[in-house]
Amino acid sequence: MPQFWVEPMNIILLGPPGAGKGTQATRLVERYGMRQLSTGDMLRAAVKAETPTGLKVKAIMEAGELVSDEIVSALISDELEALSPQTGVIFDGYPRTAEQAHSLDDILAKHRRKLDRVVELAVDEDALVERITGRFTCAKCGEGYHDVHKLPRSAGVCDKCGNGEFKRRPDDTEETVRTRMAEYRAKTAPILPIYEGRGIVERVDGMADIDEVSASIETVLGLGS
Ligand code: AP5
Ligand code: MG
Repeated sequence: MPQFWVEPMNIILLGPPGAGKGTQATRLVERYGMRQLSTGDMLRAAVKAETPTGLKVKAIMEAGELVSDEIVSALISDELEALSPQTGVIFDGYPRTAEQAHSLDDILAKHRRKLDRVVELAVDEDALVERITGRFTCAKCGEGYHDVHKLPRSAGVCDKCGNGEFKRRPDDTEETVRTRMAEYRAKTAPILPIYEGRGIVERVDGMADIDEVSASIETVLGLGS
């Protein structure tokens, strides 16, 4: 059963595309009742629903570039507004620029939350292209799979919900992944020192097995048995 703590924990999962942010966030949600706030997921939902924001960001995302700081910070702010103060939060894919890091400070202060940890998933970028280009998900429940590492147990049928339709992200082509990585190096990696200066960064080996990465994250967060 999920384990709760007195103070809800607020953490950032930081790492390049394919580092495993979404994979690990999902596990923390399942095990500890935290809430995953993924700006990528929110933006994809907006694109799918063809909202004004979705129409604005579609081409930018397909090119692998970052959408504007204002748009993503507004999404995060709205989500936190609607969230119980008792629920811990995992920021997945946000912040991604220094400007967003400053906005997050303001948003958290407004909601009387404090940032407890930044977990950096340390990965080998060359391996990430293979991880990302092989990735696909169940079109119904969102369960994640991989062409090589994690195929459905029964071909063409989702292990979790039995659905037979799968989808791939339009930005998961090799060329776009390279652009996304360049964006990470240029704009996101430079925010790490902000958090290092506060002494809240924990580095975890993101190239280990998914279960091992989860265990390391739980250890650095002081969770688990
Ligand atoms: P976003 O959706 O955040 O994508 P990303 O950061 O590029 O990261 P991914 O979701 O591709 O990877 P992940 O780290 O979640 O890895 P996963 O767990 O899936 O952003 C998409 C776009 O939206 C951006 O390019 C930008 O345009 C826009 N955007 C979003 N947020 C923004 C912001 N704040 N500001 C501006 N623009 C923003 O794992 C990947 C694969 O590897 C899976 O198949 C998984 O099964 C596998 N895997 C995971 N861990 C392991 C492991 N340890 N060993 C082996 N395989 C593993
Ligand atoms: Mg993700």
